[in-house]
Amino acid sequence: MTAAGMPKRPDYGIDAPGVLATLLLIGVLGEILGLFAPPLTVGPVTLVFGVSMQIAGGIFLLEGALMLFYVKWGKLRHRDRILAQVPFAGSEHVLDVGTGRGLLLIGAAKRLTSGRAVGIDIWSAKDLSGNAPERTEANIALEGVGGKVELRSEDACKMSFPDGSFDVVVSNLCIHNIPKQAGRDQACREIARVMRPGGMAVISDYKLTGKYAAIFAGVGFAVEFRGPFWRDTFPPLKMFVARKPS
Ligand SMILES: C[S@@+](CC[C@H](N)C(=O)[O-])C[C@H]1O[C@@H](n2cnc3c(N)ncnc32)[C@H](O)[C@@H]1O
Repeated sequence: MTAAGMPKRPDYGIDAPGVLATLLLIGVLGEILGLFAPPLTVGPVTLVFGVSMQIAGGIFLLEGALMLFYVKWGKLRHRDRILAQVPFAGSEHVLDVGTGRGLLLIGAAKRLTSGRAVGIDIWSAKDLSGNAPERTEANIALEGVGGKVELRSEDACKMSFPDGSFDVVVSNLCIHNIPKQAGRDQACREIARVMRPGGMAVISDYKLTGKYAAIFAGVGFAVEFRGPFWRDTFPPLKMFVARKPS
């Protein structure tokens, strides 16, 4: 942090911090309990609980470590991968759905000249650590894109934008957080609605992407899948590009 209390570098937060903490905690417990668990002999079979606990603990720790790797490094690579799907001219009007601390919003804004990017979110703390518009504003200021972005507190299922408002819509790891299938379907329909004819959406998530894509295909969009990206995302993320008919 600087003397004025501003962070020095942008921080895009930890996705699902409760899940990460649980993985690491169970992993550490498994390793410790495994050290002390005595072997149990049942007839001719000796069950070595300690080793099994340590193997299970190791798997949890590995998953936690892979999540941390994504959060600190893979996330930035994945952002570039999502944005590379869009042939930016610089004049686009872009929407980031579930922007969180501005990962895609800021990345898109850097590719714009006369265009503008809007990020919407409901700022759920369980979905992203430190999730608050003030934190996103701090990242926007640090990345120097203040003149090109706007933040709004809006639910993906019920957007206030008129039909056809955006050339490009992007979204990463947002839609699965919407609790019911009906809500997730509604969010996809809202994205389709706010896109202009000929516009494109790039939607990335770790599960349910087939169901989201079906909503877009059902209203006549052309859909193409990419991934899953095992090397630098965890859980492995997939994405699809959906093009609205002109
Ligand atoms: C795992 S975070 C990902 C944030 C950001 N897209 C990224 O990749 O760093 C998921 C985000 O989706 C937001 N979110 C969840 N449900 C939402 C909804 N119904 N409408 C808008 N945003 C939502 C959460 O508040 C959170 O910021």
